[in-house]
Amino acid sequence: MIRRLTLTRPDDWHLHLRDGAMLRAVLPESARHFARAIVMPNLVPPVVTSADAAAYRDRILAAMPPGADFTPLMTLYLTEETDPADVVDAHASGLVTAVKLYPAGATTNSASGVRDFDRVRAVLEAMAQAGVPLCVHGEVTDPAVDIFDREAVFIDTVLDPIRRAIPGLRVIMEHVTTADAVAYVRSVDAGLAATITTHHLVINRNHILAGGIRPHYYCLPVAKRETHRLALRAAATSGDARFFLGTDSAPHTDDAKESACGCAGCFTATNTLPILAHVFEDEAALDRLEGFVSRHGAGYYGLPVNAGRIAMVRGETPLELPARLATGAGSVTLFDPGFPLFWRVEDAPPSEVS
Ligand code: NCD
Ligand code: ZN
Repeated sequence: MIRRLTLTRPDDWHLHLRDGAMLRAVLPESARHFARAIVMPNLVPPVVTSADAAAYRDRILAAMPPGADFTPLMTLYLTEETDPADVVDAHASGLVTAVKLYPAGATTNSASGVRDFDRVRAVLEAMAQAGVPLCVHGEVTDPAVDIFDREAVFIDTVLDPIRRAIPGLRVIMEHVTTADAVAYVRSVDAGLAATITTHHLVINRNHILAGGIRPHYYCLPVAKRETHRLALRAAATSGDARFFLGTDSAPHTDDAKESACGCAGCFTATNTLPILAHVFEDEAALDRLEGFVSRHGAGYYGLPVNAGRIAMVRGETPLELPARLATGAGSVTLFDPGFPLFWRVEDAPPSEVS
């Protein structure tokens, strides 16, 4: 049995850091293990312009715990008013790494998102030309479409037509939850990739709904049936560089989750790496964990892999993590994978090779 691994320091290619007191509490949870993260722009109001992104980056840097080595990679929230030149300049200057597309109303804080895709065509064409990646929340918002079908319908009716209309556009399908999305990504040779969350490798929709409603398992896109979870696990552990980690760690206070109309989002920043090591061990794929968490995403974004390393050790007794993180905004419940965790993260000396 493998008891120790060393990995290139990982990155999180989809993360919600929020703002204010929540930011101050959750940032250390990501900075502890991850070197970089793509930071989602769905604040209220959203991060729309390069000036917004610069101000948000400054707030993140000001909230950084002492000694942390963590780089926030900023994104812009695409609206129908987005100025193509602002996007291209912000990317060229290094301020912004990607642009985020939310169909209006698809998820938390997405009211300013896109309603009419013709209105963002000029921005998408400029992005294709300048090589700016588009991160996509891939769900249709039509109330007539069943919530469990919204990702698959988005691929056919929105994403595929956009990619055909603008062939050079680099697209990351974020937090994929279906076998349909996995198959779509596999069907494309270049330019398309997908992030997979930690929690979608662990739960299916029964975890949310069977035997009582479990608000801390509710996120968007909502977890699907078991066959889809198995397809995600196969993709994540396959070694295919088109799939990489984006935790979508999305903290909401317990008050906001445990409510008659609870918010969507699972908070996984704290225990993601122990959970992933467990999943990859279950799939006899520990040798592929580093690709998924530390290499494939950097490759897609054209960034160097991190120089630092971490070690993971499999202990004899389960990790004891608090159930909740205290924040100045209220407590936030950690995602509970439903099984004990034996892998923990240690710092590895930089000279150590795996
Ligand atoms: C995210 C959030 O809370 O900001 N929620 C979620 O369920 N994943 C938004 C998102 O990524 O859809
Ligand atoms: Zn998200």
